Amino acid sequence: MEMIRVNLSSNSYNIYIDTGLLERIGDTLVKEKAPCKTLLITDTNIEKVYGSIVTESLKRNKFDVRLVSLQPGEEQKTLGTACILYDACFDHKLDRNALIVALGGGVVGDISGFVASTFMRGIPFIQIPTSLLAQVDSSIGGKVAVNHPKGKNMIGSFYQPKAVFIDTDTLSTLPAVEFVVGLVEVIKYGVIRNAELFEYIEKHLYDILQLDHTALLKIIADSCQIKTSVVEEDEKEVYLRAILNYGHTIGHAIETLTNYNKYRHGEAIAIGMLYATKIAIEIGLTNNKVYERQLSLIKRLGLPLTIDLKPGDIVKTLYTDKKVISGKLRFILPKKIGEVIISDEVTEEILYKILNAPL
Ligand SMILES: NC(=O)c1ccc[n+]([C@@H]2O[C@H](COP(=O)([O-])OP(=O)(O)OC[C@H]3O[C@@H](n4cnc5c(N)ncnc54)[C@H](O)[C@@H]3O)[C@@H](O)[C@H]2O)c1
Ligand SMILES: [Zn+2]
Repeated sequence: MEMIRVNLSSNSYNIYIDTGLLERIGDTLVKEKAPCKTLLITDTNIEKVYGSIVTESLKRNKFDVRLVSLQPGEEQKTLGTACILYDACFDHKLDRNALIVALGGGVVGDISGFVASTFMRGIPFIQIPTSLLAQVDSSIGGKVAVNHPKGKNMIGSFYQPKAVFIDTDTLSTLPAVEFVVGLVEVIKYGVIRNAELFEYIEKHLYDILQLDHTALLKIIADSCQIKTSVVEEDEKEVYLRAILNYGHTIGHAIETLTNYNKYRHGEAIAIGMLYATKIAIEIGLTNNKVYERQLSLIKRLGLPLTIDLKPGDIVKTLYTDKKVISGKLRFILPKKIGEVIISDEVTEEILYKILNAPL
């Protein structure tokens, strides 16, 4: 079993990564937290395959578990659903010492963490992420939120889990397309902080897509390590944490303009990474090879490379992002594979030039 420590003074925690972890979840958890009232939150897709394995393992270790299952999908990430979950907290008589367990993808993780952070001003919670995106990104770092009609993830807080348990076996039931879009975030980590990880993906993409155990353990552990080190340096996104948004500036604009229903998050971010690299080339920060290597990986994953959007609409939308600082657009730009800079100096002229040319 791999273990990564997230050092955040009084909010520190461990990330455990292994195969077969779900069957042993109660035995591993009991070393971190004494048995208590436990609300296990999941969605119906995940409940079908893993609900009873997790419930039984927790019960064997004397956790008093109740399972609540949401409908799958982003539409569930609302204050309305949070209220249903608060009702379940009351019904199951959760107290300050109780535990919320989030078993699922980023949707389940974000809303469960949000409920845990607000019920009785905050009760302990743990994450058992089951999608690749949740395993390498959303379960770590303590951003918890629900959506508001006026903006995604706009109602939330920073609230760290007590532990994260990643069972790589769960990826065998994840739809292939969800796996591929999660992999875009792994490629992102390679570009921002770890050239060796990027090269590993280039060399071992076949093994990764075949869910080879060694390959999965390597890319997930490296990703968790990178996210952890960035979050440790800047937990509340004062500055450095912004590098995790590589590809997300234009990516978010694409998602917003297409009402979140034409491109999956990872697809929009892949396009965003390529545009960000084109900007970096345009200002002389990096070279064409850095672009070609990312393009080649994204092509091998079969992700879309075209957007049917007007550059003017994209630029306008960029200014509505919550990452706009004092009216200035913030871009994360690669210097080379493994190193990025944060720039507030990208001009509209450059943006139009880049967005007017195909990828
Ligand atoms: N908190 C953060 O820092 C952060 C970071 C990135 C993304 N997010 C959030 O994460 C969410 C997206 O997460 P996601 O991509 O995991 O989506 P998701 O939670 O909707 O899961 C995707 C789909 O896969 C299914 N699924 C998940 N794991 C499965 C498994 N092992 N077997 C079978 N089916 C499985 C789910 O039921 C769902 O239908 C968004 O709401 C986004 O805002 C949060
Ligand atoms: Zn992302």
